[in-house]
Amino acid sequence: MSAKIAVKGLKKGFITDQGLLQVVNGISFDVADGEFVAFVGPSGCGKTTLMNIIAGFDPPDEGTVKVDGASRSGPSAKGILISQHGSVFPWLTVQQNLMFGLNGHAPSNKEQLADHYADLVGLKGFEMSYPHELSGGMLKRAELARALVVKPEILYMDEPFSALDALLSLRMRKEFLRILAEERHTVVLITHDVEEAIHLADRIFVLSARPAHIKATFAVPFEHPRRLSSPEAQGLKESILRELGV
Ligand SMILES: Nc1ncnc2c1ncn2[C@@H]1O[C@H](COP(=O)(O)OP(=O)(O)O)[C@@H](O)[C@H]1O
Ligand SMILES: [Mg+2]
Repeated sequence: MSAKIAVKGLKKGFITDQGLLQVVNGISFDVADGEFVAFVGPSGCGKTTLMNIIAGFDPPDEGTVKVDGASRSGPSAKGILISQHGSVFPWLTVQQNLMFGLNGHAPSNKEQLADHYADLVGLKGFEMSYPHELSGGMLKRAELARALVVKPEILYMDEPFSALDALLSLRMRKEFLRILAEERHTVVLITHDVEEAIHLADRIFVLSARPAHIKATFAVPFEHPRRLSSPEAQGLKESILRELGV
């Protein structure tokens, strides 16, 4: 079977005042259809740069990204990026934000779909609220719902929960897993949180410090719901932290 996402030999650098800053240094990997992969790496190693290339927002200097076997040079409708900095429109209500990306539906259907997904992420009753009226956690829910409502084949997530406190982040992960159990997507997650990666992913790629390359790959063989305090999960966490040099 061919891969859902096939990435080969990605390289990327930026021209700065100090000269060329090499950021991504030869990254290759495949993601199977329906698979959940996570990248963990130190801050500043090139995670967001890598994600922007994979999601099609930035061209690499070298290498290719194929989705369903087709090379791609821009963002595709098959995938949605949830960025580190958020992407809801502040001037639209939750419902309007969710309806924004829905084409080809009758208006009443759009409303229904928007409200269904608001409900799914726990935002029932806040459909008419504006982003500034929401807490940080609710805003993240809105982001997630906005991505899910268009039923993307691929979800690209760049540190989606890292702005949240530990408790909220854990709750969001649990809800995300519940949603994924109902509606399977292929997911590429980027995070600096090893525990988050172990909680969510089927496979974890450990990135080196900048310029980023894949230092190690770990399968996460645990059934959901996962107990992060289990000796196996703790052992995996230690192995990953060791690769990260911690
Ligand atoms: N557009 C750009 N121009 C110049 N340097 C950049 C640009 N984008 C990112 N960088 C640099 O690339 C490095 C990696 O950044 P980034 O991919 O955001 O890291 P991470 O997401 O892992 O924290 C950083 O040193 C950053 O300053
Ligand atoms: Mg980043």
